[in-house]
Amino acid sequence: MMKFILGTILFVLAGAALAQAPAGNAAAGKGKISMCTGCHGIPGYKTVYPYMYQVPMITGQQPVYLVNALQAYKSGARSHPSMRGIAQSLSDQDMADLAAYYSSEAQ
Ligand code: HEC
Repeated sequence: MMKFILGTILFVLAGAALAQAPAGNAAAGKGKISMCTGCHGIPGYKTVYPYMYQVPMITGQQPVYLVNALQAYKSGARSHPSMRGIAQSLSDQDMADLAAYYSSEAQ
């Protein structure tokens, strides 16, 4: 019985956490990409300095994938210095909006 109650509590808490993730707005996201296009907007998905580092394609990815990646840079779980600095300046709402925008863009 105790197990069941505990399980139910965890389930409800997980639901509440999910419900708190802000909904992304692609139109708002479009207004926030100016800091991203220099690296992520280049045809061929490379930076202007392709010999220095390669930039992954982010357009068309699932929003949850993009938000998770940005949160991982922000928390330090992923450690790329440029992305870390950028992610630290983004709010949860910014991430949701950017993810909504990039996931809806086909390139
Ligand atoms: C200075 C260049 C640069 C800028 C500016 C930049 N990025 Fe990145 N981004 C990168 C590089 C390089 C990587 C790959 C880093 C790594 O190896 O983890 C990356 C990785 C990512 C990833 C993870 C992709 C994956 O498949 O794992 C996401 C999501 C992302 N960037 C989103 C953004 C967003 C949103 C912005 C604008 C707010 C932005 N980036 C601005 C260079 C940049």
